[in-house]
Amino acid sequence: MIKTVKTSPYNDQKMGTAGLRRKSKVVMQPNYVENFMQSIFNTIGSLNGKTFLLGGDGRFYNDIAIQKIIKMAAANGVSKLIIGQNGYVSTPAGSRIILKNKLNGGFVLSASHNPGGINGDFGIKYANETGGQIPSAVSDRIYQETQKISEYKIFEADDIKLDKIGRQKLGDMEIEIIDPLNDYVEMMENIFDFSALKKLFKSGFTMKFDAMNAVTGPYAVRIFEDILGAAKGSVINAKPLPDFGGLHPDPNLLYAKELLAIMNADNAPDFGAANDGDGDRNMILGKKFFVSPSDSLAILTDYYPIIPAYKNGIFGVAKSAATSTAVSRVAKAHDIGYYEVPTGWKYFVNLMDSNRITICGEESFGTGSSHIREKDGIWAVLFWLSIIAETGMSVEEIALDHWKKYGRSYYLRYDFDGLDTKAADSLMADLENKLPTLVGNHYGEYKITQARPFVYNDPVDHSSTKNGLIINFENGSRIVYRLSGTGSSGATLRVYLENYNRTDLKEDSHEMLEDLLEIAMEIAEITARTGKQHADVIT
Ligand code: G1P
Ligand code: ZN
Repeated sequence: MIKTVKTSPYNDQKMGTAGLRRKSKVVMQPNYVENFMQSIFNTIGSLNGKTFLLGGDGRFYNDIAIQKIIKMAAANGVSKLIIGQNGYVSTPAGSRIILKNKLNGGFVLSASHNPGGINGDFGIKYANETGGQIPSAVSDRIYQETQKISEYKIFEADDIKLDKIGRQKLGDMEIEIIDPLNDYVEMMENIFDFSALKKLFKSGFTMKFDAMNAVTGPYAVRIFEDILGAAKGSVINAKPLPDFGGLHPDPNLLYAKELLAIMNADNAPDFGAANDGDGDRNMILGKKFFVSPSDSLAILTDYYPIIPAYKNGIFGVAKSAATSTAVSRVAKAHDIGYYEVPTGWKYFVNLMDSNRITICGEESFGTGSSHIREKDGIWAVLFWLSIIAETGMSVEEIALDHWKKYGRSYYLRYDFDGLDTKAADSLMADLENKLPTLVGNHYGEYKITQARPFVYNDPVDHSSTKNGLIINFENGSRIVYRLSGTGSSGATLRVYLENYNRTDLKEDSHEMLEDLLEIAMEIAEITARTGKQHADVIT
């Protein structure tokens, strides 16, 4: 019943910032998923005795890809698969399930915050036994394998039913269908003080959580409504749909429009939050108030002592280089370790495993801690609710209080989308070459003190990664340039701007960054090289 099928390589199966991510129609090509999965299995070697997690965010093609992977796992000698009921598992819950059950790794079928559907994106993330995504050295080996693949193995059988919790077999492989919520909910109960949060909702506190028709809906309903007692209907767009109901499940000011309208209304609830397609990103809102993810990371870190799981101290904190420097000031005040890594959650994993950090985050709406090895959207929401329960302050008051204490890093990210890949690559290469000549230059009041590529030397595995270019100014401002590694076609140039201010705390970010934006456009010759006068997306 095991069939060996001849195939030939696809040349585009290189993993990006977070797994393999392509247009759905690309992934739907004959043998595309099969080639990729067989390359992973070949790279692992013996699969006998190994157990993996499998699930996804419910997007279009999940149901088809999951059956292919089950049948290939059986044919390749995997001992056991643990699968989320109906094929669902959020990225953070997946990480937890791998760690708690000491699995050898897992596959989460998701293109994260990218749109789904036949014209959207599909993706496969591969985590190893750390519960985090595999390091680049391993993904490089898998890519090499995809370039020479000539056959794959698949079990010939009917599709496996995924709707009932329980055990079954396919050939010699055991399949266990689990409730994908249980382990995750239990973990949250152990990190946070749920009785304090129940009291908060009992006192009349109101919230809206936008699950954006993606995988966190069931998690959020169980935690916020069923357990903590938030009013029914506090979770909106709660049912996972294959096309996310047409939503772009990216929790930011551009795409979480429904939530934004609710939070900007005069009768807004006290608190608003949204998660992305696979539940690892979060956006935090107060009444008519937005918390930038970089600030959120700094604020959560500052309040770590009030959380039961962290009250005895934390190891340290890390951020991606592109994220604002707000959290660095908190780390200094608390005298804890502080690290800057390249963009991508996988770079935090070694720091967590070696007890260097506990909390970490990225400007791209990702925050998390060493409870798992992925960022965690619902964790961030529970952390914010805990701060509100403890302090009695509103979201806006908490942010203001933070800026008064530490000053404010005005911060925005400008994305230039759909660029010609060659034009984008040469923009970055030419910019890198001219960086040394820029030091000392003045642009109005802005003087460049440092201009260099960001190079990260991992203190644990000693790998070295170059990611992005950073320009520092005398007044504490920064420009970071880098190319996206998660797109499914073309190139995206990301320009991250930061302007630090100790006294003007309630200004508009766009205005505060206007001059710096002009300088950033000029230095990188963005308009001349891309034809773009303005960024396509600002977050
Ligand atoms: C983007 C974000 C990055 C995040 C990744 C996966 O990657 O910038 O912070 O880790 O998505 O969610 P990028 O497209 O910039 O490579
Ligand atoms: Zn995601």
